[in-house]
Amino acid sequence: MLLTIRSLTKTFPGTTALDAVDFDLAAGEIHALLGENGAGKSTLIKCLTGAYSRDGGEISLEGRPISPRSTSKAQELGIGTVYQEVNLLANLTVAQNLTFGREPTRFGMVDARAQKRQAEAMLEGYGLDIDVSRNLAAYSVAVRQIIAIARAVALSGKVLILDEPTASLDAREVETLFDVVRGLRDRGLGIVFVSHFLDQVFALTDRVTVLRNGRRVASERTADLNRVRLIEHMLGHALEDEVIAHGKTHDAAAAQRPELLRFENFGRRGHVEPFDLAVGRGEVLGLAGLLGSGRTESAELLFGVVEAHSGAARDENGTFDLSSPRAAVAAGFGYAPEERKEDGIVADLSVRENIALALQAHRGWLRRLSGAEQARLANNYIARLDIRTFGPEQPVGELSGGNQQKVVLARWLAMNPRFLILDEPTRGIDVGAHAEILRLIQKVTAEGMSILIISSELDELIAVSDRVIVVRDRRHVAELTGREITSDTIVRAIAAPQAGRQNSGEEAA
Ligand SMILES: Nc1ncnc2c1ncn2[C@@H]1O[C@H](COP(=O)(O)OP(=O)(O)OP(=O)(O)O)[C@@H](O)[C@H]1O
Ligand SMILES: [Mg+2]
Repeated sequence: MLLTIRSLTKTFPGTTALDAVDFDLAAGEIHALLGENGAGKSTLIKCLTGAYSRDGGEISLEGRPISPRSTSKAQELGIGTVYQEVNLLANLTVAQNLTFGREPTRFGMVDARAQKRQAEAMLEGYGLDIDVSRNLAAYSVAVRQIIAIARAVALSGKVLILDEPTASLDAREVETLFDVVRGLRDRGLGIVFVSHFLDQVFALTDRVTVLRNGRRVASERTADLNRVRLIEHMLGHALEDEVIAHGKTHDAAAAQRPELLRFENFGRRGHVEPFDLAVGRGEVLGLAGLLGSGRTESAELLFGVVEAHSGAARDENGTFDLSSPRAAVAAGFGYAPEERKEDGIVADLSVRENIALALQAHRGWLRRLSGAEQARLANNYIARLDIRTFGPEQPVGELSGGNQQKVVLARWLAMNPRFLILDEPTRGIDVGAHAEILRLIQKVTAEGMSILIISSELDELIAVSDRVIVVRDRRHVAELTGREITSDTIVRAIAAPQAGRQNSGEEAA
């Protein structure tokens, strides 16, 4: 065995994050580490890489016990990690990022030509066609991720840990990344892969270990598992009534709804071309498109994060201001963006305070919510979204990644906006909570809230949407309703100019 973990235990005040966990990783193996939000995956990885100290248990690498005290010590031993948020520096060149901390020098200065050669050598075999002397910022998230992997492999070279590496990649980029990872496996690395995308687990991995509430509940060959059994391992029970299977019926009659508001010729040069969009009361609008196609840009425009250059928003009372997020909130809009960190999750405030924050700001500080009202609100959403926390007073920073995501969602739902924009609301969220969130969307829209949802998971988009807008090259290129909403028509509209009904407004001047 390349890596052996025996009886690993880690406790935090009030939580046993890992309870005597065993884990084995062979050389030349891709091993999935799975479990619900808060199951202990990231904690296991942090103990393994020296980011956390452990309370008990043994870790051995190639038969020798190890106790790395820091991630750089772990790297020296051969264990490299790449997280979802790539921790490289965007304003340095690719070469500087790759050689950071061990730059070749000449006469006491960094030897730029040797650095470039070294960087190019490090990227050999990864199938990237890039200029290492350009800033990292010039390249997509996918390319950055591969660069981060190349750096980790060059520094470490035995064990590579990928913690939700595909969360912000599109399908093609995922394939590229997988090719890279398979290549590394074939070179004899042991790879740990953490993901909530079960399809990817089946496509990529050789073995699966499942954690539940800090305990190992299964370790099996991927080929011996199926989706249903895997989900049962994760949840500890069968997943009743998966929402995907019970999606909208997509009959045209249901699409006839009273209009809540409409955007006319709404656009911004260089951001999104002007579009017309009517929103029905209680309607779910899906926004489909590739990464970078203009989905998030559309959402930003609709919420006043960037100001429109043209057009207007109107409802039954006439036009209203959408020139800033503050104006958008005043107009009854809500927006949960994709990056929860940028959304200002306040890590050292409690779950209660984070959920009450936006609502309190909206009501104004004079009409203060009492502590008891806040607690009631928080407890309600903790239960509805199954937020794993030991109570409303726990600091949000102590929650697992997926549970922080649920807190962001709760915050916006608590405001009860008339129009809520959700950018990738189920990203990083486990299967059980995933279904719960889709159910919640159906519930609040039945009560009259209108929702615009951006999702890269087509099945999910199809299951919840009454209407799907397809965005390509920063234009709204198609609008699908009723029976037109199938993955086939959506994919074709994403790919081909002639597919779908043209609905893009005029060309930007
Ligand atoms: N620094 C910390 N302080 C207190 N509790 C923590 C800390 N880090 C993690 N925990 C707790 O340990 C448990 C396991 O969290 P962990 O982040 O390992 O989950 P995870 O499996 O990675 O979940 P996710 O899929 O949401 O990323 C959770 O209950 C979490 O609240
Ligand atoms: Mg995690």
